[in-house]
Amino acid sequence: MKPLAVGVLISGRGSNLQALIEACRDPATKAGIRLVLSNKADAQGLARAAAAGIETAVVDHRNFPDRARFDAEIDRRLREKGIELVCLAGFMRILTDEFVDRWRDRMINIHPSLLPAFRGLDTHARALAAGAKLAGCTVHYVRRELDTGPIILQEKVPVLPGDTAERLAARVLEAEHRAYPAALRLIAAGRVRVEGERIFIDGVETSASAAAASRPSG
Ligand code: GAR
Repeated sequence: MKPLAVGVLISGRGSNLQALIEACRDPATKAGIRLVLSNKADAQGLARAAAAGIETAVVDHRNFPDRARFDAEIDRRLREKGIELVCLAGFMRILTDEFVDRWRDRMINIHPSLLPAFRGLDTHARALAAGAKLAGCTVHYVRRELDTGPIILQEKVPVLPGDTAERLAARVLEAEHRAYPAALRLIAAGRVRVEGERIFIDGVETSASAAAASRPSG
């Protein structure tokens, strides 16, 4: 089977990108990252990609008059490389409806909360302020509305007494680094089907337990 051509969009640190890079090093993962694109020239993730020999591109949103033209350029770069799946990995720009629709069911995101709780920013501080006892991360297909879309898998982590946003973020990030590669492996193996807003893995509609079962190694 030809490896799935993956493009990763980042804006910063790129630790999830790193987890995806490592997953793709395993020949059992039928995917290869063909392009890492950042809207910020100083994103640490660009160095991670370069160190792994992956092609990088910077498309600075400040050089475009509007979101539509910025997104059109990203779209062009992805198509030029024959990208089949886009992974958003800490990409901090809101995408236009047109872009999201073009990549419908071919673009996934990782978000540091158990969606649909705590969409948007500052998820950990908000989870603590709300007294949440469980936190975690979600990998989902991207839909027009921010941090929505069919959920591929989620990994839960406990909120512990005395947690700060930083400590909770670090615990969730470890889960992210398992969940994102696991989701990529599932998709690359052709095991995920999207039907409208529903997800089927190996032909079975996902439930909380199925999502959790695919957690550790996919
Ligand atoms: C991650 O925690 C990711 O879940 C979050 O940004 C961080 C990026 O870290 N993404 C979002 O909040 C998107 N809504 P990384 O650059 O080290 O992967």
